[in-house]
Amino acid sequence: MTETAIQVKDLRKSFKDTEVLKGVDIEVRRGEIFALLGSNGAGKTTTVKILSTLLRPDGGTASVCGFDVQRQPGKVQQSISLTGQFAAVDGILTGRENLVLIAKLRSISDPAQVADSLLERFGLRDAANRRAGTYSGGMTRRLDIAMSLVGTPPVIFLDEPTTGLDPEGRLEVWKTIKELASSGVTILLTTQYLEEAEQLADKIAILHGGKIIANGTLEELKKLFPPAQVEYIEKQPSLEEIFLAIIGKKEGN
Ligand SMILES: Nc1ncnc2c1ncn2[C@@H]1O[C@H](COP(=O)(O)OP(=O)(O)OP(=O)(O)O)[C@@H](O)[C@H]1O
Ligand SMILES: [Mg+2]
Repeated sequence: MTETAIQVKDLRKSFKDTEVLKGVDIEVRRGEIFALLGSNGAGKTTTVKILSTLLRPDGGTASVCGFDVQRQPGKVQQSISLTGQFAAVDGILTGRENLVLIAKLRSISDPAQVADSLLERFGLRDAANRRAGTYSGGMTRRLDIAMSLVGTPPVIFLDEPTTGLDPEGRLEVWKTIKELASSGVTILLTTQYLEEAEQLADKIAILHGGKIIANGTLEELKKLFPPAQVEYIEKQPSLEEIFLAIIGKKEGN
């Protein structure tokens, strides 16, 4: 596999008269956590759907692990997992049953063993035989992420992994994501939470008005804005301030 895990060039997508993506460029290196930030309706889910072959772009190119999403969708599907914006967990089944089901669907040779090792890894062993419908938000999200890891794909997409979670649930999921990244998986996550990007991401891209209007490490983004001087105390801008300032600046373009 090349050093570049995800490459997106001039990606375009419209829904009827609405131009959602107007030429998006993204590059994610192997092993990186990449955060795609944007407000509601910015096109984050649309981008993730195109990258995971669920949606066809109107123009531009996108590849994952060197495979083109349009010409080699099967290869892309084998290289990725997707945890969608809304949990795919079946509340009637237990945590273990959910995992075994996915492993069987993916024709994994030992579904029970795969399920058990994921339950262990995600701290769900004690809850394994309880219906998933009784799990807390954080546990459900962890199970959801665990389900997407059946088959150990090298690239994972997490669409708003912590939306709707309380601070504790969010911390649990952050920990999970950090552990995944340290095991060498490439992660592209979308979020509306600036703190989430600040906490997790090696690289951050801001999607606004159909384009990536800022892109880089947190340090690089901070450099776009000179620190405010207040009586000799240097104040670093928060990502939230950077985000709002960039959006404000570009509004109307
Ligand atoms: N299948 C569709 N048909 C028509 N319009 C769509 C479709 N999917 C998305 N859109 C529109 O495209 C725009 C981008 O939607 P998208 O879901 O990608 O945004 P998002 O950044 O994921 O937002 P959110 O933070 O609310 O999840 C929105 O205006 C949405 O209404
Ligand atoms: Mg979305």
